[in-house]
Amino acid sequence: MENRNVYNPLLFEIAWEVANKVGGIYTVIKSKTPVTVYEFGDRYTLIGPLSYKTALAEVEPIEVSNHYMKEILEEMSSQGVKWIHGRWLIEGAPRVLLFDTHSVSDRLDKWKADLWNVAGIPSPPNDNEANDSILFGYLVSWFLGDFVAKERSKAVIAHFHEWMAACSIPLIRKRRIDITTIFTTHATLLGRYLCAGSVDFYNNIKKFSVEEEAGTRGIYHRYCIERAAALCCDVFTTVSQITAYEAEYLLKRKPDAVLPNGLNVIKFSAIHEFQNIHAQKKEKIHNFVRGHFHGHYDFDLDNTLYFFTAGRYEYRNKGVDLFIEALDRLNHRLKACNSPVTVVAFLIMPAATNYYTVESLKGQAVTKQLRETVKEITDRVGKRLFERAARYTSGDIMQKVMDPSNLLTKDEVILLKRRVVALKRESLPPIVTHNMVDDVSDPILNQLRRLRLFNDRMDKVKVIFHPEFLNSNNPLFGMDYDDFVRGCHLGVFPSYYEPWGYTPAECTVMGIPSVTSNLSGFGCYMSENIESTSDYGVYIVDRRKKSFDESTQQLADIMLQFCQKSRRQRINMRNRTERLSDILDWKLMGMEYTRARKLALHRTYPECFVSKNLDDLQRRRVKISRPLSASGSPRIDSGTNSGRSSDVDFEEQISHFKCRHRDFNEENDSDYYRDNEYDYIDE
Ligand code: UDP
Ligand code: G6P
Ligand code: GLC
Repeated sequence: MENRNVYNPLLFEIAWEVANKVGGIYTVIKSKTPVTVYEFGDRYTLIGPLSYKTALAEVEPIEVSNHYMKEILEEMSSQGVKWIHGRWLIEGAPRVLLFDTHSVSDRLDKWKADLWNVAGIPSPPNDNEANDSILFGYLVSWFLGDFVAKERSKAVIAHFHEWMAACSIPLIRKRRIDITTIFTTHATLLGRYLCAGSVDFYNNIKKFSVEEEAGTRGIYHRYCIERAAALCCDVFTTVSQITAYEAEYLLKRKPDAVLPNGLNVIKFSAIHEFQNIHAQKKEKIHNFVRGHFHGHYDFDLDNTLYFFTAGRYEYRNKGVDLFIEALDRLNHRLKACNSPVTVVAFLIMPAATNYYTVESLKGQAVTKQLRETVKEITDRVGKRLFERAARYTSGDIMQKVMDPSNLLTKDEVILLKRRVVALKRESLPPIVTHNMVDDVSDPILNQLRRLRLFNDRMDKVKVIFHPEFLNSNNPLFGMDYDDFVRGCHLGVFPSYYEPWGYTPAECTVMGIPSVTSNLSGFGCYMSENIESTSDYGVYIVDRRKKSFDESTQQLADIMLQFCQKSRRQRINMRNRTERLSDILDWKLMGMEYTRARKLALHRTYPECFVSKNLDDLQRRRVKISRPLSASGSPRIDSGTNSGRSSDVDFEEQISHFKCRHRDFNEENDSDYYRDNEYDYIDE
């Protein structure tokens, strides 16, 4: 290894979701950018695959300013490699380098053979995703290898996320490229596959014959890439303790550190602002609901609660099966107690579709027409009323000015009647908004059918499956996902397999209560740091020690209790939830990344560091206690409540919490990482 400057290192972060949205990894990279750019400035470059469709919308091409990079990229171009270098148009505007894997597809066979020879990693012919990851891996290692051969003064850190982007790691190791590598896995392939089936995953985690299981599922070659990356990197990390535990058994290396996911938290200066936004966005959801349920719109929107779940369509892993089952129980219980509350539950999970159904578009169209007609008529009525009142000189005011029977003209009455008649419908309001390609075997639709959740008039729980992510061009809602979340009352994410789970974390920073599970990284993180999470609007369903049926019951109870809250209680709860956003901020979480980078440099260039003693700050756990205003009534959580916190205490606890991270971050001792234990797992 060369003698490189480790105090001003260059950082490359490599991920499949750079300027390319698929799921939560995109959120990690994008939301973390401001803190990383703050720390590295132009010494930071993101590398990803080039998807022309998204890159054109997200990236502004710019000249390559680093002359080494320029030389290398020109050379790569001369050999047929296509790439784009630009600024990603997000906060922090980081530099990105995107490689077009298709431009080198003619080398696939050669590189596959090389991968087998140098790393013993096989690759079957027809797995396009794995092929892309190999092409990308070879391009990245080509680029980085040439780069450190030219840039010889500064240390270079390459931080890879997830197996798709990590095929370079074994190549870097084999070629002895002078660079330090970090690999963050956001799941394990095998874990995700096993959980999606009907395996009792957590009770058998130590017993799986991993190669055999991967082979049976046709993912042995992918598994090999992932495992090689985990074993060959200098620092191996993951996003939660629960995934660290899983990685130890499935990838055969205990992670050196856990890097929990943060968010780029934007705080409003006045607390009531986010509450007002909730009310505004809820009004937009009301408009959708009026249209969707036209002809059956006989429930009171002022007494309607919006619950939702969202994410990639992983039916069992994301706990959608449990959510629907619990909705059915909630429906029965709300009916049994003749509750005035109606729940509309949204399921937002992309599936293959042939556009929106005519019925769901028509629903919005007929209510829109009604709204416009009513507006036109009321404008005219207003004008007429004004004219009559202004011209009034003498006689009966009621008769001459305000006679209600004269307010509407005959034509207006007919027009209004036509609009109202158009609202009638024979069928029930649909449970799905799109034409599903696989309607007959879709698991969500089949479960709704089995439970007969059909949006009947008698149902207190209505359901709407929207099999596409939301964006502001959406013809039904006309709002993007964040705005939709803000307008809802409760996010429900009782996942069975969830290394982190951004969706409930996003709810929290937006001040919307949510349900998560103790098998999600986020749920574990919150219960580690907060004494009674449910008092702060973060409900945690036990999916570890309870059966499916018991967990369903727990979720149904949580949702029922939520339905029993008054508006004032909901407003208080949202205020408390929003207060937690500080502990999810990248300004805090980003420090774990800084420490992982230090550790990587320390391991690769130990002679450049002076060891210090470990101050055992990590073990001094300070939990955020229950809020003072929390009721003393029995709770779902059985937290060890030592006391309640007033607003002042709360601020103190948050700053204590931050200090704990900051102080520790200043320590430069790598032993911490090796000592880190999986506190969450009951052996
Ligand atoms: N999401 C979105 N639009 C939607 C629903 C979800 O952009 O309509 C995003 C959401 O904001 C979150 C991501 O999808 O950041 C899902 O990440 P998560 O970590 O929850 O799950 P993953 O898909 O990575 O397993
Ligand atoms: C926010 C608004 C209030 C509104 C309330 C509705 O707090 O500031 O004006 O009354 O939301 O809350 P709900 O839980 O009924 O949607
Ligand atoms: C993965 C996991 C998800 C996590 C995300 C970001 O996609 O499924 O739980 O939040 O990565 O780390």
